[in-house]
Amino acid sequence: EIKAFIFDLDGVITDTAEYHYKSWQKLADEEDLFFNREINEKLRGVSRMDSLDIILDGKELPEKIKKEWTDRKNAYYQKYLEEITKENILDDMESKLKRLKNDGFKIAVGSSSRNARKVLKQLQIYDMFDAISDGNSVESAKPAPDLFLHTAKNLGLEPEECVVLEDAESGVEAALAANMKAVGVGPESRVGKAHLVYGNVDSIDFDEILKKL
Ligand code: G6P
Ligand code: MG
Repeated sequence: EIKAFIFDLDGVITDTAEYHYKSWQKLADEEDLFFNREINEKLRGVSRMDSLDIILDGKELPEKIKKEWTDRKNAYYQKYLEEITKENILDDMESKLKRLKNDGFKIAVGSSSRNARKVLKQLQIYDMFDAISDGNSVESAKPAPDLFLHTAKNLGLEPEECVVLEDAESGVEAALAANMKAVGVGPESRVGKAHLVYGNVDSIDFDEILKKL
């Protein structure tokens, strides 16, 4: 029986991909790294350090420099976050969240981002959630199941009672590895492994999810 919905944040509740893109691009320009929108797409759902490793594409660097670069990228990103308001919530996601709560479901956030709480506050929906797991909650990032298992534990629920909504391949894999039900948001090529797939946030149908999963 489904008792909770765990939402990924970036790409499901709001769209921060463009801010991540601009921040990585600025760092890449400064450090003469090859970067573009296509590479940025691969960073969806991937932790900050894993993102830098993808950009470096096999190039090895001392940990100290990698730390300095990811810190700098994050400083750029945090500047963009100041611009985020309620307007940045995707489509009718807020009313969908309210309806789920009214219907007695628990709702939670399971995000790889260490900035997740800041983003939720900027969106003015921080207090709605029964649990929030973010990039600081566990050691192993998605596609490991740890983050979503952390969320279920905080909700006091079994993994089987949770549905995860994800826009990233790594996130869908994490949900499946956690033995949860996975709903993908985006193209089949990206989230096709999920139990149910919607092309975009607007078309997510919770009645259908409850009936089919
Ligand atoms: C989300 C985004 C990723 C980002 C990650 C870490 O999963 O989809 O693109 O790299 O969070 O974000 P952070 O705010 O910790 O740098
Ligand atoms: Mg995402």
